[in-house]
Amino acid sequence: MTLSTLLGTYQARTEQALQHWLPSARILPTRLHEAMRYAALGGGKHIRPTLVYMTGVALGAPLERLDGPACALELIHVYSLVHDDLPAMDDDDLRRGKPTTHIAFDEATAILVGDALQSLAFYILAHDPHMVSNPALRLRMVETLTLASGSRGMAGGQAIDLAAAGHEITLAELEDMHIHKTGALIRASVRLGALSQPDSDETLLEQLDHYAKCMGLAFQIRDDILDIEGDTAILGKPQGSDLAGDKPTYPALVGMDEAKRMARDLHQEALDSLAPLGDAGQPLRDIAEYIINRNS
Ligand code: IPE
Ligand code: IPE
Ligand code: MG
Ligand code: MG
Ligand code: MG
Repeated sequence: MTLSTLLGTYQARTEQALQHWLPSARILPTRLHEAMRYAALGGGKHIRPTLVYMTGVALGAPLERLDGPACALELIHVYSLVHDDLPAMDDDDLRRGKPTTHIAFDEATAILVGDALQSLAFYILAHDPHMVSNPALRLRMVETLTLASGSRGMAGGQAIDLAAAGHEITLAELEDMHIHKTGALIRASVRLGALSQPDSDETLLEQLDHYAKCMGLAFQIRDDILDIEGDTAILGKPQGSDLAGDKPTYPALVGMDEAKRMARDLHQEALDSLAPLGDAGQPLRDIAEYIINRNS
């Protein structure tokens, strides 16, 4: 199956799972539920859920078992986007081709949308009857996603990002910021996919984790590049936001050519880690290439 077919399949599947779990806008409090649905549905590339599906399937897990973790990852990601766009953070007014949640609703609602999407993600991991049946594995998934979302993961990376605005930082500090703010959730996506198949070989899990670590950093390097070279209409978010916010980025620190070279090197390192998967790893290879070459 080609990558675009596979991406389409997993995007549709994620959207369906989100539809299932998000409360109807007719349920009280209606405005909050409407805003949660506005933020989460009808847009986005769904890369993180796709990584959950691709990893799980490569290890032999059935798709039904992966819907819960895929949906949980996307909800945490959407919450991070809603808060990332707030005036107190990046102060952006466009996301996924439409007004950001705080513009379409209001700031307080956008804050609550993030809070509620985060809770819903963990409710799904605790509750979804179709997930892996072993309670210890389910608990490991909860542990993995809490760490990846919190102060030692995404939220911590966002704190580093905010503190770094307007300052010069070293390449090591920039790498650390990217590994946390973006890399942590990408890594958790692959790990939750892998945990969905019990008794997977430990060495293989470590290799997959290395793949995800490389691609998480490469994902944010490409995002930094697109902030300069991208087109707002294609990105669906404002090009030039990093420059406006005086954010440290890979192209700003090492130059555009070197940033692209670093993304390519990380991509190669990620591919090397997939060798033990053989043919079953092809979708993960294809999406890695997409991540470093994408235009949106
Ligand atoms: C954007 O993520 C935020 C970053 C972590 C760079 P995506 O590029 O995956 O955004 P969507 O989900 O497709 O909108
Ligand atoms: C976002 O980084 C990271 C998270 C949302 C956690 P950016 O601020 O670069 O993401 P975009 O460019 O607004 O999507
Ligand atoms: Mg940001
Ligand atoms: Mg931003
Ligand atoms: Mg960005």
